[in-house]
Amino acid sequence: MLEEQLLDPQHHDRLSFTCGVAELDEYLHRFAVQQSKKGIAVVRVLIDTDMPKTILGYYSLSAAQIDAVQMDERTQKKLPRYPVPCFRLGRLAAHSAHRNRGLGRLLIGCAVERCLEAKKHVAAYALVVDAKGEDAKTFYEHYGFTPCRDNPMTLYLSLGS
Ligand SMILES: CC(C)(COP(=O)(O)OP(=O)(O)OC[C@H]1O[C@@H](n2cnc3c(N)ncnc32)[C@H](O)[C@@H]1OP(=O)(O)O)[C@@H](O)C(=O)NCCC(=O)NCCS
Repeated sequence: MLEEQLLDPQHHDRLSFTCGVAELDEYLHRFAVQQSKKGIAVVRVLIDTDMPKTILGYYSLSAAQIDAVQMDERTQKKLPRYPVPCFRLGRLAAHSAHRNRGLGRLLIGCAVERCLEAKKHVAAYALVVDAKGEDAKTFYEHYGFTPCRDNPMTLYLSLGS
């Protein structure tokens, strides 16, 4: 059974994770634990309970803000002119040995669910992500993310009211 867990260096084998993007591998191998401890990001991993050490995918979430002028005109009209609170999907990746099996979809779903839960307690208007390349951008657009006006590699997904 697939399960989402908080990254735990005692239990999860970070070094065997590879997604084909060096920066995203290095983040999990070297920086994710530190960032979790320092309160910079919360990192969650996807595992199969039959192989609980193997990381199948991961994502990180942090608090952030976005300038409303980056959003589409209709959205802007509803928002104040100062930066609005949001969450940032800092990183998201699925293991390259398990592509096209729905892990990416599951990871996004888990991240959005966490944001919807968190926004019951701390307001946030959208989930923002920085795509690491054109492929990643297309992937996020597939899930309804909209490119920002000034920087289309940053995309946002409204979390509803
Ligand atoms: C992007 C990534 C997470 C997708 O993971 P995956 O497990 O192969 O994707 P899924 O099997 O869940 O695919 C889900 C859907 O997204 C689509 N999809 C997958 N990769 C896509 C891409 N690059 N562009 C557009 N759509 C894509 C699939 O066709 C599928 O569509 P469907 O739901 O209509 O059938 C994975 O390829 C990855 O980790 N890439 C390297 C890291 C990366 O680029 N991360 C993005 C963060 S910057």
